[in-house]
Amino acid sequence: MKIAIMGAMPEEIEPLVDKLDNVSMTVYAANKYYEGSYKGQEVVVAYSKIGKVFATLTATILLEKFGCDMLLFSGVAGAISDDLKIGDLVIADGLCQHDLDITAFGHPYGFVPEGEVCIPTDPKLRSIAKAVAAKKGLTLKEGVIATGDQFIADVERKTWIGKTFDAHALEMEGAAVAVVCNALNTPFFILRAISDAADMDASFNFDEFLESSAKISADFILSMVEHIQED
Ligand code: ADE
Repeated sequence: MKIAIMGAMPEEIEPLVDKLDNVSMTVYAANKYYEGSYKGQEVVVAYSKIGKVFATLTATILLEKFGCDMLLFSGVAGAISDDLKIGDLVIADGLCQHDLDITAFGHPYGFVPEGEVCIPTDPKLRSIAKAVAAKKGLTLKEGVIATGDQFIADVERKTWIGKTFDAHALEMEGAAVAVVCNALNTPFFILRAISDAADMDASFNFDEFLESSAKISADFILSMVEHIQED
C-alpha cells in the first residue's frame, strides 16, 4: 500500500517531508513529489500550490502516476463556526465547492449535472482519525468543509458559505481532491487546522499562524499513517 499525503503550500508539507526516511524527489508536471517512508510505510508527499485547479492536477498525479492507494490532505483552513479557534483540528465529513454557481439554470449552489453538492470522505479514515485523537487526548471537530478559489476575509461571505452549505470551515483545495478521489474510487481524508476566522483579520492571522497550524495538522497526519499501517 502506498499513501499520498498532500498539502497546498510548502509550509503544509515541510513538517512531513522532514520526518521521512529514504526520501527521493521527482519533478513532474512542474511540481515536486517526495517519495519515502514513514515508520516503514511507503508515502508520496507533494504540495499542489493554492487553489482547485492545481489541487486537481496534483491529486490526479499522486494517484495515476505514483499509484497511491489513498490520499490524506493536511493543511490549514479558515473557521466558519465560532467554536473553531486558531490551531483547532477539523476533519471534513464532506466537501463542497462554494464558488460553483449555475443557479441561473435552477440548480443549487455547488451543483453541476452528474455531480453532487457534497462529496463524502472515507468513513474508515474518519474513524481512524477519531481513534488517533482519542489516544492523543485531542479534540477533533467534524463537519462540511467548503472549498473555493477565493481567500475569504469577509464575515458576510463566510456567513453565506456557512449557511448555504452547512459548512464549518473553508479552504481552497479540499473539494478538488474530493472530485478526483471520488472519480478514481480512492479513499481520501481531509484534515485542516484553523489558521484564521475568514474575517477582516484573516490575512494577518493566516500569515501569523500558517506555520504553527500546518504543523499541528501534519503531526496528526503522521500519527494517522502509523494507525493505518497497524489496521
Ligand atoms: N485557508 C486558510 N484560511 C483561509 C481563508 N480565510 N480563505 C480561504 N482559504 C483559507
